[in-house]
Amino acid sequence: MKAEESKFSLFSKRKSAEVDPSELKIPTHLAVIMDGNGRWAKKRMLPRSAGHRAGADNLKTLCKNCGHYGIKYVTVYAFSTENWSRPESEVHTLMELFVEYFDRYDPELEAEGIRVRFTGDIASLPENIQTVCKRAEEGSKHRDKMTLIVAFNYGGRREIVQAAQKLAEKVKAGAIRSEDISEELFAQNLYLPDVPDPDLIIRPSGEERTSNFLVWEGAYSELWFSDVLWPDFGMKELTDALIAYTRRDRRFGGLSKEKKDEE
Ligand code: IPE
Ligand code: IPE
Ligand code: MG
Repeated sequence: MKAEESKFSLFSKRKSAEVDPSELKIPTHLAVIMDGNGRWAKKRMLPRSAGHRAGADNLKTLCKNCGHYGIKYVTVYAFSTENWSRPESEVHTLMELFVEYFDRYDPELEAEGIRVRFTGDIASLPENIQTVCKRAEEGSKHRDKMTLIVAFNYGGRREIVQAAQKLAEKVKAGAIRSEDISEELFAQNLYLPDVPDPDLIIRPSGEERTSNFLVWEGAYSELWFSDVLWPDFGMKELTDALIAYTRRDRRFGGLSKEKKDEE
């Protein structure tokens, strides 16, 4: 194969399974909207709960695949502040699955060196859920290969409102002045200030919206959509997303590298 051909083959003829990972640009932080569980179940004439179970199982696969590519932070959208509007029985199933998940898969998360953290309005969740969060976070603190951040009872707008409330309290207490509030200070009052912004947000299931996910943090994220439903989202889809991401030119309002070189 000619040198020129091999350089670009990643983006053209090669099947994703044959991609040389060293050619890929790997995001530091990948975020995934785990959507399409209900439709996955419907296609199989199964109850929605079966779709949620399959979706939860697939999170294990995503972690393995992200570990393969050396992605450091993976945030997954598991339950939004708007998902409370679903029927009580479905909400109950999702809560139950959440509680089960970290006990069932902890040995595998441990084996993969995965630290678990949560983002969202955790303090408003039932006590038993908060206990699960604390236990999973405490028990995985020492792991350093990858951080899995589970967005649960998460809403981007609520996160921003809560940051504004924290800042207002600080102003009221005289700890800061309102004119001290900058983008940096605001970001420090979000749920996980030490986590870098997501580089890439993926949404399977054919919907092309972000549904209140990482509203502040995702301001400059690359977006990638796929028609595949979340429980079927595997290595091929992740690799396709990474190939697309590799081709993106992230300008952050500036000029692309080629344009700068022309000056
Ligand atoms: C995502 O799957 C899971 C949650 C939102 C909790 P959905 O349940 O939204 O699946 P669809 O969109 O109905 O297929
Ligand atoms: C987004 O999916 C939330 C999660 C995947 C947890 P939804 O299914 O709730 O989003 P909409 O209603 O299609 O926007
Ligand atoms: Mg959905």
